[in-house]
Amino acid sequence: MKHLLPALSLAVAFMMSFAARAAEPVGMDMQAGPPAPVAHAADALRPPLLLTGQRADVQDLSGRWTYSKDYYRTGLTDINGWVAKSRMQRHRDVDVAAEESKPGTGFFEFDLDRGPAMQIPGAWNAAEPELRWYDGLIWFQRRFDVAAPRAGERSFLRFEAVNYRAHVYLNGKEVGRHEGGFTPFVLEVTDALRANGNRLVVGVDSRHDAQSIPGEITDWDLYGGITRPVTLIRTPATFIDDATLRLTDAGRLVGSLQLNGAQAANAPVSVQIAALGLKAQATTDARGEARFDIPAPATLKRWSPESPQLYAVRFAAGSDAVTDRMGFRTLAVKGADILLNGQPITLRGVSLHEEELGANPARRLNEPAARALLTEVKQGLHGNYVRLSHYPHSETLLRAADELGLLVWSEIPVYWTVDWDNPAVLLKARRMQAETIYRDRNRAALALWSVGNETPVADNRTRFHAALAATVRALDPGRLVSAALLVEREGDTIRIADPLLPHLDVMAVNTYAGWYGDDRLDDLARLRWALPTDKPLIVSEFGADALAGHHDLGEPPRKWSEEFQAAYYRATLQMLERIPNLRGLSPWVLKDFRSPRREHPVFQNGWNRKGLISETGQRKLAFQLLADHYRGLPR
Ligand code: GCU
Repeated sequence: MKHLLPALSLAVAFMMSFAARAAEPVGMDMQAGPPAPVAHAADALRPPLLLTGQRADVQDLSGRWTYSKDYYRTGLTDINGWVAKSRMQRHRDVDVAAEESKPGTGFFEFDLDRGPAMQIPGAWNAAEPELRWYDGLIWFQRRFDVAAPRAGERSFLRFEAVNYRAHVYLNGKEVGRHEGGFTPFVLEVTDALRANGNRLVVGVDSRHDAQSIPGEITDWDLYGGITRPVTLIRTPATFIDDATLRLTDAGRLVGSLQLNGAQAANAPVSVQIAALGLKAQATTDARGEARFDIPAPATLKRWSPESPQLYAVRFAAGSDAVTDRMGFRTLAVKGADILLNGQPITLRGVSLHEEELGANPARRLNEPAARALLTEVKQGLHGNYVRLSHYPHSETLLRAADELGLLVWSEIPVYWTVDWDNPAVLLKARRMQAETIYRDRNRAALALWSVGNETPVADNRTRFHAALAATVRALDPGRLVSAALLVEREGDTIRIADPLLPHLDVMAVNTYAGWYGDDRLDDLARLRWALPTDKPLIVSEFGADALAGHHDLGEPPRKWSEEFQAAYYRATLQMLERIPNLRGLSPWVLKDFRSPRREHPVFQNGWNRKGLISETGQRKLAFQLLADHYRGLPR
């Protein structure tokens, strides 16, 4: 990839700048208690402790959590900026009822033990009618007991996602913070954990601002809260922090294993794929990292959408072991083609928000919910690809894509506009990018990292995205970089000329001619596309709203009807087919989704209706039209 060199030098420069400050705890605004030891300086973007795959000792803390609203954030800061009053500090390790039974003048204005409860994971906006539009701080509490810790053992809390800021306390002690609503974070709690009656309190603040990612306005709903699972993970004193393995074009399995702990350096480690009769040893270096570079066994079956072959890969080090189900394939761009396992592929897909089927989604994507959506793509649309917009989706859904055989586009929510000139915001975006890469880089399905969506072209915006592209290439050289760009319109010419293009492996654009703007559907046949043809193009969005069950048999059918949406798809597909380097489609969108921007009282009522299926899964006419189109494409 010719443009790689400038990007890499940028990445190295960034890493070196970080190396100088490697001592500080790493992680999104992490203000951990005992800072988790950074694995090693050169990879200062790495989240402090990202545990991959299935481990032996994991306690799921899902279930009923009590909660306490804190609209004016008095649990964090009191009026006039004073320190919060203890009677309002939800994080305190205190049995309020017991204290109230004692004589004295003290009192409380919260009690998480006797508060209302809701099911976690899941967004609060779907839990209670009174919380439907709550956008602010809510404190959650989970009480739990643990088995007595073994000598030298370490304990970590792992949050798969908290939207948008998390303030985490265990037994009254602050153990860390995190910013970012869609990526996992891990906090060491070895010194704060006790055997019985642990009191885990998490302050969740959903409020976004001009420096958040995404910013304050999006075309999707609030979904505040602890939206993905929380687990307690117990490990030996020195444990496997991260482990990767991938297939290269040269037919080798290359990867790394990172230990964390006092005995991390110069330690024997191994990787084993029993089904392939493969076992390889290595020794960690002074920084606790070991590298693997082994010939791939001739019997290895490559992963593909048609044959999503996965293997149990077991990483071991001392008394620790992590097993991950992984697929192996190669991915490249060659001229205008995307190559999977050396063969050109066309991506037959659709875009997806993280919302389960149903009239009151809580962004609770457990495995059945994930499979229900992805099966509509794989079986219903005859698809081989999904664009997970506009933020990293749950690991559950990524793993379902691995199992079902769907290639994935994943993106961080650098969406519309962020504070392009603010170094702290760029760092936030880079860490978000790193957190999602470290979580998902073992997923064969994951093919493309997108560094943004529909951001207005400007020098500062292009520098921001270029820096993100460099971060991707530094952390995950085996995948492709893209971004969903805006097109330019000049009369009947639709032009792609974005200055970000040289930093991308695959071009992608969103286009809505025939829905937004003055074009009638008959005009689309006349539109010309002017774009570079030296690299692949994905049309990452096109779509039209239709209320399921609303029909108009007129000619032409009017907007909001299923007939109009189908006619829009027919005209758009015919227009796009004329683009010589078109290599993928992800129409907007599989399912109607909630958005506070969509308030037509007859057709929308808070839902964006561009779905090919309704929120309850009712297929619209355009669904079958796209399915027939994909089935007719050459394989
Ligand atoms: C934009 C944007 C989507 C939005 C869609 C729409 O392209 O990327 O997030 O929902 O258009 O207008 O429906």
